[in-house]
Amino acid sequence: MSFETEVINEGLTEIEVPRVERLRGPGRKSHLPFFNPLMRTNRDVSVFVALTVLSDGDKVLDGLAATGASGLRIALETKGELAVTLNDRNPICHDLITRNIERNRAKGCSVTCEDLNSLLSRGRFDLVDVDPFGTPVRFVESAVRATTDGGVTAITATDTAVLCGSRMKACIRRYSSRPRRTDYCHELGLRILLGYVARAAARFDRGIEPLLCFSADHYFRAIVRVRRGARRADSTLEKLGNLHVHGLGRELIPEKGVAGPLWADAFLDAAFLESVKLPSYFPHKVSKLLELWREEASSPPLFYTTGEVAREFVSEPPALDRIIGALRDEGFIATRTHFRPDAFKTNADVESIGRILRT
Ligand SMILES: C[S@@+](CC[C@H](N)C(=O)[O-])C[C@H]1O[C@@H](n2cnc3c(N)ncnc32)[C@H](O)[C@@H]1O
Repeated sequence: MSFETEVINEGLTEIEVPRVERLRGPGRKSHLPFFNPLMRTNRDVSVFVALTVLSDGDKVLDGLAATGASGLRIALETKGELAVTLNDRNPICHDLITRNIERNRAKGCSVTCEDLNSLLSRGRFDLVDVDPFGTPVRFVESAVRATTDGGVTAITATDTAVLCGSRMKACIRRYSSRPRRTDYCHELGLRILLGYVARAAARFDRGIEPLLCFSADHYFRAIVRVRRGARRADSTLEKLGNLHVHGLGRELIPEKGVAGPLWADAFLDAAFLESVKLPSYFPHKVSKLLELWREEASSPPLFYTTGEVAREFVSEPPALDRIIGALRDEGFIATRTHFRPDAFKTNADVESIGRILRT
């Protein structure tokens, strides 16, 4: 290689990566193959999703593979007979991916060096993973169309500032949706991304079923099952809504509101999350996240921070466990949320939250 490299271990995989200064935050474009150790959780998720949904003979596409880290980990750690295509249009990435396949003696892997949209226009895959620099919008339609009926599309977005409302016009241009900068803007941003995927799918008579959609570090990820058919597309579109705000109260309903359109339905599939079995060597961080997603899957949309409810009803923010416990004692659903450690989700109305807080 014409640049310095180092070999790192992730999961059961050895990956040769460029030796570069590591910066926090989203990746920046360079001619060198990109590798961010901080995105390990995202790759761990790819591995457990593949372990849970794929069977022998299935086809996987790591569409923007860079060093090949994600696709290689799927090939090696699922131990199935999968056909994994690792694609990156950068020829330097192509060479490094080839070396990484050889280094790991990975079976069933092939490497391509194409523009992703052109590859997606020809192939069909049971799992399509798209992990771009910044916004994924230019790949979403072709990724969903290239996913088999019942297959899974996984989309990462690192333009979180746009989706969270710091750049309102960019969000309207890219996602055809109005964002809102609020205490709960990360949930709104994730729902805007998911709403975009839903509308892209519907344009080609496909529906989506979210399996696991989340916010972590500096990115959002939407992992959805794709179902073919006009009726599936219609029922998917019925799950879009808009944000309405009344004082502290907030809801997602069909009528035009202060933010949206966005996905107004569940973004975590409880049955899917229950069926996940994590490999024993996975980091503790991933099992803690899985536990939180499982808890949150039973909750209604949107959340309140303890600071917000304190400002409205009492002087000091309540302890999270205390407010969740008190809401449950009154028969309400109440859970933590992965979006913020100081927030809770509940089906209690604002008046009930206030009454419970004051007692
Ligand atoms: C953020 S990196 C992918 C990181 C990788 N998934 C991982 O887990 O380490 C994005 C990659 O997409 C590639 N890329 C950008 N546009 C592309 C396109 N239109 N077609 C194919 N590859 C593309 C870049 O060369 C880069 O390697």
